[in-house]
Amino acid sequence: MKGLLLAGGHGTRLRPLTFTGNKHMIPIANRPMLYYGLEHLKQAGVSEVAVILGPITEGIREGIGDGRQFGLRVEYVTQGEPLGLAHAVKCARSFLGDDPFLMYLGDNLLEDGPGPYLDAFRSGSPSAVVGATTVRDPSHYGVVELDEQGRIVTIEEKPKRPRSHLALVGVYLFTPEVHEIIDGLSPSARGELEITDAIRALSEKTHRVRVIRLSGWWKDTGQVADILEANERVLATRPPSFFEVHGEVHPGARIIGHVGIGPGSVVEEGATVRGPTVVGANVRIGAGAYVGPFVAIGDGATVRQAEIDRSILMENATVDLPTRIVDSIIGRGTSLRQRTQRPAGQSFVLGDSSQVNL
Ligand code: TTP
Repeated sequence: MKGLLLAGGHGTRLRPLTFTGNKHMIPIANRPMLYYGLEHLKQAGVSEVAVILGPITEGIREGIGDGRQFGLRVEYVTQGEPLGLAHAVKCARSFLGDDPFLMYLGDNLLEDGPGPYLDAFRSGSPSAVVGATTVRDPSHYGVVELDEQGRIVTIEEKPKRPRSHLALVGVYLFTPEVHEIIDGLSPSARGELEITDAIRALSEKTHRVRVIRLSGWWKDTGQVADILEANERVLATRPPSFFEVHGEVHPGARIIGHVGIGPGSVVEEGATVRGPTVVGANVRIGAGAYVGPFVAIGDGATVRQAEIDRSILMENATVDLPTRIVDSIIGRGTSLRQRTQRPAGQSFVLGDSSQVNL
Protein backbone atom coordinates (compact mmCIF):
# COMPACT_ATOMS: atom_id res chain seq x y z
CA MET A 1 0.00 0.00 0.00
CA LYS A 2 1.23 3.51 -0.85
CA GLY A 3 0.53 6.83 0.87
CA LEU A 4 -0.71 10.07 -0.65
CA LEU A 5 -0.49 13.11 1.60
CA LEU A 6 -2.12 16.27 0.31
CA ALA A 7 -0.44 19.56 1.18
CA GLY A 8 -1.65 21.72 -1.68
CA GLY A 9 -4.33 24.43 -1.67
CA HIS A 10 -4.14 28.14 -0.89
CA GLY A 11 -5.23 28.00 2.75
CA THR A 12 -7.08 31.30 2.28
CA ARG A 13 -9.00 30.95 5.54
CA LEU A 14 -5.74 30.95 7.49
CA ARG A 15 -4.32 34.18 6.14
CA PRO A 16 -2.07 35.93 7.04
CA LEU A 17 -0.29 32.77 8.28
CA THR A 18 -0.52 31.25 4.80
CA PHE A 19 0.97 34.27 3.02
CA THR A 20 4.41 33.28 4.20
CA GLY A 21 4.20 29.53 4.58
CA ASN A 22 2.22 26.44 3.79
CA LYS A 23 -0.69 25.87 6.16
CA HIS A 24 0.31 22.26 6.73
CA MET A 25 3.51 23.41 8.42
CA ILE A 26 1.61 25.38 11.08
CA PRO A 27 2.58 23.73 14.38
CA ILE A 28 0.10 21.82 16.49
CA ALA A 29 1.65 21.05 19.89
CA ASN A 30 4.95 22.27 18.39
CA ARG A 31 4.95 19.85 15.44
CA PRO A 32 3.91 20.78 11.91
CA MET A 33 0.42 19.41 11.33
CA LEU A 34 1.63 17.45 8.30
CA TYR A 35 3.81 15.29 10.54
CA TYR A 36 0.76 13.76 12.20
CA GLY A 37 -0.43 12.50 8.80
CA LEU A 38 3.01 11.10 8.02
CA GLU A 39 3.04 9.30 11.36
CA HIS A 40 -0.33 7.72 10.63
CA LEU A 41 0.83 6.56 7.20
CA LYS A 42 3.85 4.97 8.84
CA GLN A 43 1.57 3.29 11.40
CA ALA A 44 -0.47 1.92 8.51
CA GLY A 45 2.61 0.06 7.30
CA VAL A 46 3.12 2.32 4.29
CA SER A 47 6.72 2.82 3.23
CA GLU A 48 6.41 5.08 0.18
CA VAL A 49 4.55 8.40 0.34
CA ALA A 50 3.97 11.11 -2.25
CA VAL A 51 3.36 14.59 -0.83
CA ILE A 52 1.21 16.76 -3.08
CA LEU A 53 2.53 20.30 -3.37
CA GLY A 54 0.35 23.23 -4.34
CA PRO A 55 1.02 26.91 -4.92
CA ILE A 56 2.61 27.52 -1.49
CA THR A 57 5.43 25.11 -0.76
CA GLU A 58 7.54 26.99 1.80
CA GLY A 59 8.84 24.79 4.56
CA ILE A 60 7.58 21.39 3.36
CA ARG A 61 10.63 19.94 1.63
CA GLU A 62 12.89 21.54 4.24
CA GLY A 63 10.92 19.88 7.05
CA ILE A 64 10.27 16.43 5.58
CA GLY A 65 13.16 15.95 3.16
CA ASP A 66 13.29 12.39 1.84
CA GLY A 67 11.20 11.17 4.78
CA ARG A 68 14.03 9.29 6.50
CA GLN A 69 13.27 10.84 9.92
CA PHE A 70 9.77 9.28 9.72
CA GLY A 71 11.03 5.90 8.50
CA LEU A 72 9.40 6.59 5.12
CA ARG A 73 10.50 7.20 1.54
CA VAL A 74 8.91 10.49 0.55
CA GLU A 75 8.72 12.03 -2.88
CA TYR A 76 6.97 15.17 -4.07
CA VAL A 77 4.35 15.64 -6.75
CA THR A 78 3.53 19.14 -7.95
CA GLN A 79 -0.15 19.81 -8.37
CA GLY A 80 0.13 23.60 -8.59
CA GLU A 81 -3.31 25.19 -8.55
CA PRO A 82 -5.77 23.27 -6.33
CA LEU A 83 -8.05 21.77 -8.95
CA GLY A 84 -9.62 19.30 -6.57
CA LEU A 85 -8.84 16.26 -4.44
CA ALA A 86 -9.45 13.89 -7.34
CA HIS A 87 -7.14 16.05 -9.46
CA ALA A 88 -4.42 15.54 -6.84
CA VAL A 89 -4.84 11.75 -7.25
CA LYS A 90 -4.55 12.19 -11.01
CA CYS A 91 -1.30 14.13 -10.59
CA ALA A 92 0.15 11.23 -8.55
CA ARG A 93 -0.96 8.58 -11.06
CA SER A 94 2.50 7.36 -12.03
CA PHE A 95 3.69 7.26 -8.39
CA LEU A 96 0.60 5.28 -7.32
CA GLY A 97 0.91 2.67 -10.08
CA ASP A 98 -1.40 -0.28 -9.48
CA ASP A 99 -1.14 -0.26 -5.69
CA PRO A 100 -3.94 0.46 -3.26
CA PHE A 101 -3.30 3.73 -1.46
CA LEU A 102 -4.19 5.56 1.71
CA MET A 103 -4.94 9.19 0.93
CA TYR A 104 -4.65 11.66 3.77
CA LEU A 105 -5.61 15.35 3.63
CA GLY A 106 -2.69 17.05 5.32
CA ASP A 107 -4.94 19.38 7.31
CA ASN A 108 -6.87 16.55 8.96
CA LEU A 109 -6.14 15.24 12.42
CA LEU A 110 -7.68 11.94 13.34
CA GLU A 111 -7.59 10.39 16.78
CA ASP A 112 -8.46 6.91 15.52
CA GLY A 113 -5.54 6.80 13.08
CA PRO A 114 -5.62 4.53 10.02
CA GLY A 115 -6.43 1.26 11.89
CA PRO A 116 -10.20 1.18 11.18
CA TYR A 117 -9.57 1.76 7.45
CA LEU A 118 -7.11 -1.12 7.27
CA ASP A 119 -9.43 -3.41 9.22
CA ALA A 120 -12.26 -2.66 6.78
CA PHE A 121 -9.94 -3.14 3.80
CA ARG A 122 -8.76 -6.54 5.03
CA SER A 123 -12.21 -7.82 5.95
CA GLY A 124 -13.70 -8.08 2.47
CA SER A 125 -12.55 -6.69 -0.82
CA PRO A 126 -13.86 -3.14 -0.99
CA SER A 127 -12.98 -0.90 -3.92
CA ALA A 128 -12.60 1.95 -1.41
CA VAL A 129 -12.97 2.61 2.32
CA VAL A 130 -14.14 6.06 3.39
CA GLY A 131 -14.63 7.35 6.93
CA ALA A 132 -17.58 9.34 8.16
CA THR A 133 -18.50 10.96 11.43
CA THR A 134 -21.51 12.84 12.76
CA VAL A 135 -21.17 16.63 12.82
CA ARG A 136 -23.55 19.41 13.83
CA ASP A 137 -23.29 21.44 10.61
CA PRO A 138 -22.40 19.13 7.72
CA SER A 139 -22.77 21.77 4.97
CA HIS A 140 -19.01 22.51 4.96
CA TYR A 141 -18.07 18.92 4.21
CA GLY A 142 -18.66 16.05 1.86
CA VAL A 143 -21.92 14.55 3.17
CA VAL A 144 -22.93 10.93 2.83
CA GLU A 145 -26.38 9.40 3.25
CA LEU A 146 -26.49 5.68 4.01
CA ASP A 147 -29.19 3.04 3.83
CA GLU A 148 -29.88 0.57 6.66
CA GLN A 149 -27.12 -1.74 5.47
CA GLY A 150 -24.64 1.14 5.54
CA ARG A 151 -24.48 1.46 1.75
CA ILE A 152 -24.17 4.86 0.08
CA VAL A 153 -27.49 6.34 -1.07
CA THR A 154 -26.24 9.87 -1.82
CA ILE A 155 -22.90 11.59 -1.51
CA GLU A 156 -22.51 15.32 -2.11
CA GLU A 157 -19.77 17.91 -1.69
CA LYS A 158 -20.65 20.83 0.63
CA PRO A 159 -24.42 20.57 0.02
CA LYS A 160 -26.66 23.56 0.80
CA ARG A 161 -29.31 21.16 2.13
CA PRO A 162 -27.44 18.18 3.63
CA ARG A 163 -29.35 14.90 3.57
CA SER A 164 -27.63 13.59 6.71
CA HIS A 165 -25.29 14.67 9.49
CA LEU A 166 -22.57 12.29 8.35
CA ALA A 167 -19.50 14.18 7.15
CA LEU A 168 -16.71 12.53 5.20
CA VAL A 169 -13.40 12.56 7.02
CA GLY A 170 -10.31 13.53 5.01
CA VAL A 171 -8.74 10.07 4.99
CA TYR A 172 -9.60 7.58 2.23
CA LEU A 173 -8.37 4.18 1.18
CA PHE A 174 -8.62 3.49 -2.55
CA THR A 175 -7.85 0.56 -4.79
CA PRO A 176 -6.49 1.32 -8.28
CA GLU A 177 -10.06 0.93 -9.59
CA VAL A 178 -10.50 4.61 -8.76
CA HIS A 179 -8.13 5.83 -11.50
CA GLU A 180 -10.38 4.91 -14.39
CA ILE A 181 -13.27 6.59 -12.58
CA ILE A 182 -11.26 9.78 -12.05
CA ASP A 183 -10.24 9.80 -15.72
CA GLY A 184 -13.94 9.99 -16.56
CA LEU A 185 -14.77 12.91 -14.21
CA SER A 186 -15.56 16.45 -15.30
CA PRO A 187 -14.95 19.49 -13.12
CA SER A 188 -17.79 20.44 -10.75
CA ALA A 189 -19.58 23.81 -10.73
CA ARG A 190 -16.73 25.18 -8.60
CA GLY A 191 -14.19 23.99 -11.16
CA GLU A 192 -12.73 21.08 -9.18
CA LEU A 193 -12.43 17.36 -9.78
CA GLU A 194 -14.34 16.28 -6.69
CA ILE A 195 -13.40 13.20 -4.70
CA THR A 196 -17.08 12.84 -3.74
CA ASP A 197 -17.94 12.47 -7.46
CA ALA A 198 -15.25 9.78 -7.75
CA ILE A 199 -16.59 7.93 -4.68
CA ARG A 200 -20.17 8.11 -5.99
CA ALA A 201 -19.19 6.77 -9.41
CA LEU A 202 -17.01 4.06 -7.87
CA SER A 203 -19.85 3.02 -5.58
CA GLU A 204 -22.33 2.90 -8.49
CA LYS A 205 -19.90 0.83 -10.56
CA THR A 206 -18.56 -1.63 -7.99
CA HIS A 207 -21.10 -1.55 -5.09
CA ARG A 208 -18.03 -2.16 -2.95
CA VAL A 209 -17.33 1.21 -1.31
CA ARG A 210 -17.27 0.67 2.46
CA VAL A 211 -18.24 3.57 4.71
CA ILE A 212 -16.87 3.23 8.22
CA ARG A 213 -18.11 5.29 11.17
CA LEU A 214 -15.30 6.84 13.19
CA SER A 215 -15.86 7.43 16.86
CA GLY A 216 -12.69 9.27 17.94
CA TRP A 217 -12.27 12.99 17.53
CA TRP A 218 -11.51 14.40 14.12
CA LYS A 219 -10.46 17.89 13.18
CA ASP A 220 -10.21 19.55 9.81
CA THR A 221 -7.91 22.46 10.66
CA GLY A 222 -9.03 24.88 7.97
CA GLN A 223 -9.62 27.84 10.27
CA VAL A 224 -7.99 29.52 13.28
CA ALA A 225 -10.56 28.17 15.75
CA ASP A 226 -9.95 24.62 14.43
CA ILE A 227 -6.19 24.93 14.84
CA LEU A 228 -6.58 26.08 18.44
CA GLU A 229 -8.98 23.24 19.14
CA ALA A 230 -6.61 20.73 17.54
CA ASN A 231 -3.74 22.12 19.63
CA GLU A 232 -5.84 21.70 22.77
CA ARG A 233 -6.94 18.17 21.86
CA VAL A 234 -3.44 16.99 20.97
CA LEU A 235 -1.95 18.45 24.16
CA ALA A 236 -4.75 16.94 26.22
CA THR A 237 -4.24 13.47 24.78
CA ARG A 238 -0.44 13.16 24.57
CA PRO A 239 1.00 10.58 26.98
CA PRO A 240 2.96 11.88 30.00
CA SER A 241 6.21 10.78 28.27
CA PHE A 242 5.65 13.53 25.67
CA PHE A 243 6.18 16.19 28.35
CA GLU A 244 9.85 15.99 29.23
CA VAL A 245 11.69 18.76 31.01
CA HIS A 246 15.13 19.36 29.49
CA GLY A 247 15.48 23.07 30.16
CA GLU A 248 16.25 24.88 33.37
CA VAL A 249 13.43 25.57 35.81
CA HIS A 250 14.29 27.99 38.61
CA PRO A 251 13.33 26.64 42.05
CA GLY A 252 11.14 29.71 42.50
CA ALA A 253 9.16 28.98 39.31
CA ARG A 254 5.97 26.91 39.34
CA ILE A 255 5.31 24.04 36.95
CA ILE A 256 1.80 22.62 37.27
CA GLY A 257 0.60 19.46 35.50
CA HIS A 258 2.09 18.07 32.26
CA VAL A 259 4.61 20.54 30.89
CA GLY A 260 7.34 19.82 28.33
CA ILE A 261 10.32 22.13 28.22
CA GLY A 262 12.94 21.87 25.48
CA PRO A 263 16.72 22.04 25.85
CA GLY A 264 18.27 25.44 26.48
CA SER A 265 14.99 26.94 27.71
CA VAL A 266 14.75 28.82 30.99
CA VAL A 267 11.75 29.33 33.27
CA GLU A 268 12.66 32.16 35.59
CA GLU A 269 11.85 32.66 39.25
CA GLY A 270 8.25 33.78 39.73
CA ALA A 271 7.01 32.41 36.39
CA THR A 272 4.21 29.84 36.24
CA VAL A 273 3.69 27.26 33.49
CA ARG A 274 0.51 25.25 33.68
CA GLY A 275 -0.01 22.07 31.68
CA PRO A 276 -0.81 20.66 29.37
CA THR A 277 1.67 22.98 27.73
CA VAL A 278 4.69 22.44 25.55
CA VAL A 279 7.66 24.78 25.36
CA GLY A 280 10.29 24.38 22.63
CA ALA A 281 14.06 24.81 22.80
CA ASN A 282 15.86 28.02 23.79
CA VAL A 283 12.69 29.69 25.06
CA ARG A 284 12.77 32.25 27.89
CA ILE A 285 9.80 32.50 30.22
CA GLY A 286 10.21 35.52 32.47
CA ALA A 287 9.20 36.28 36.03
CA GLY A 288 5.99 38.02 35.05
CA ALA A 289 4.65 35.21 32.89
CA TYR A 290 1.77 32.82 33.52
CA VAL A 291 1.64 30.38 30.63
CA GLY A 292 -0.98 27.68 30.04
CA PRO A 293 -2.98 25.57 29.97
CA PHE A 294 -3.12 24.42 26.31
CA VAL A 295 -0.25 26.55 25.11
CA ALA A 296 2.47 25.60 22.60
CA ILE A 297 5.54 27.82 22.43
CA GLY A 298 7.98 27.39 19.55
CA ASP A 299 11.79 27.40 19.68
CA GLY A 300 13.55 30.66 20.47
CA ALA A 301 10.41 32.47 21.70
CA THR A 302 10.36 34.80 24.71
CA VAL A 303 7.53 35.52 27.13
CA ARG A 304 8.59 38.21 29.59
CA GLN A 305 5.27 39.11 31.06
CA ALA A 306 1.65 38.28 30.11
CA GLU A 307 -0.77 35.52 30.88
CA ILE A 308 -1.15 33.23 27.90
CA ASP A 309 -3.95 30.73 27.71
CA ARG A 310 -4.94 28.27 24.92
CA SER A 311 -2.65 29.75 22.31
CA ILE A 312 0.17 29.00 19.88
CA LEU A 313 3.34 31.10 19.82
CA MET A 314 5.55 30.19 16.92
CA GLU A 315 9.32 30.27 16.72
CA ASN A 316 11.14 33.39 17.88
CA ALA A 317 7.95 35.24 18.83
CA THR A 318 8.22 37.70 21.74
CA VAL A 319 5.48 38.65 24.18
CA ASP A 320 6.08 41.34 26.76
CA LEU A 321 2.70 42.79 27.66
CA PRO A 322 0.92 43.24 31.00
CA THR A 323 -2.19 41.57 29.69
CA ARG A 324 -3.97 38.25 29.24
CA ILE A 325 -3.76 36.64 25.82
CA VAL A 326 -6.29 33.94 24.92
CA ASP A 327 -7.16 31.90 21.81
CA SER A 328 -4.34 33.40 19.75
CA ILE A 329 -1.90 32.29 17.09
CA ILE A 330 1.21 34.44 17.03
CA GLY A 331 3.38 33.92 13.96
CA ARG A 332 7.13 33.41 13.67
CA GLY A 333 9.27 36.34 14.79
CA THR A 334 6.21 38.39 15.78
CA SER A 335 6.64 40.75 18.68
CA LEU A 336 3.97 42.00 21.10
CA ARG A 337 5.43 44.57 23.49
CA GLN A 338 4.30 47.44 25.59
CA ARG A 339 4.89 50.78 23.90
CA THR A 340 7.20 52.89 25.99
CA GLN A 341 7.74 55.97 23.84
CA ARG A 342 5.37 58.91 23.36
CA PRO A 343 2.79 59.58 22.14
CA ALA A 344 1.23 56.93 24.37
CA GLY A 345 -1.16 54.60 22.62
CA GLN A 346 -1.31 51.31 20.80
CA SER A 347 0.83 50.94 17.73
CA PHE A 348 0.58 48.16 15.14
CA VAL A 349 2.55 46.87 12.22
CA LEU A 350 0.27 44.18 10.80
CA GLY A 351 0.54 42.23 7.59
CA ASP A 352 -2.37 41.88 5.15
CA SER A 353 -5.43 40.09 6.56
CA SER A 354 -4.15 40.21 10.16
CA GLN A 355 -6.66 40.08 12.99
CA VAL A 356 -6.47 42.05 16.26
CA ASN A 357 -9.19 41.72 18.90
CA LEU A 358 -8.43 44.04 21.81
P1 TTP B 1 -9.35 22.84 1.53
O1 TTP B 1 -9.41 23.10 3.01
O2 TTP B 1 -10.61 22.57 0.83
O3 TTP B 1 -8.62 24.04 0.81
P2 TTP B 1 -7.41 24.93 1.28
O4 TTP B 1 -6.46 24.12 2.11
O5 TTP B 1 -6.81 25.58 0.07
O6 TTP B 1 -8.02 26.05 2.25
P3 TTP B 1 -8.97 27.32 1.98
O7 TTP B 1 -10.34 26.76 1.68
O8 TTP B 1 -8.90 28.06 3.29
O9 TTP B 1 -8.39 28.15 0.85
O10 TTP B 1 -8.37 21.61 1.24
C1 TTP B 1 -8.43 20.42 2.01
C2 TTP B 1 -7.08 19.75 2.03
O11 TTP B 1 -6.75 19.23 0.75
C3 TTP B 1 -5.93 20.63 2.41
O12 TTP B 1 -5.02 19.81 3.14
C4 TTP B 1 -5.33 21.05 1.09
C5 TTP B 1 -5.59 19.85 0.21
N1 TTP B 1 -5.87 20.12 -1.21
C6 TTP B 1 -4.91 19.79 -2.16
O13 TTP B 1 -3.80 19.33 -1.84
N2 TTP B 1 -5.24 19.97 -3.49
C7 TTP B 1 -6.44 20.44 -3.89
O14 TTP B 1 -6.67 20.58 -5.10
C8 TTP B 1 -7.41 20.80 -2.89
C9 TTP B 1 -8.75 21.33 -3.25
C10 TTP B 1 -7.08 20.61 -1.56
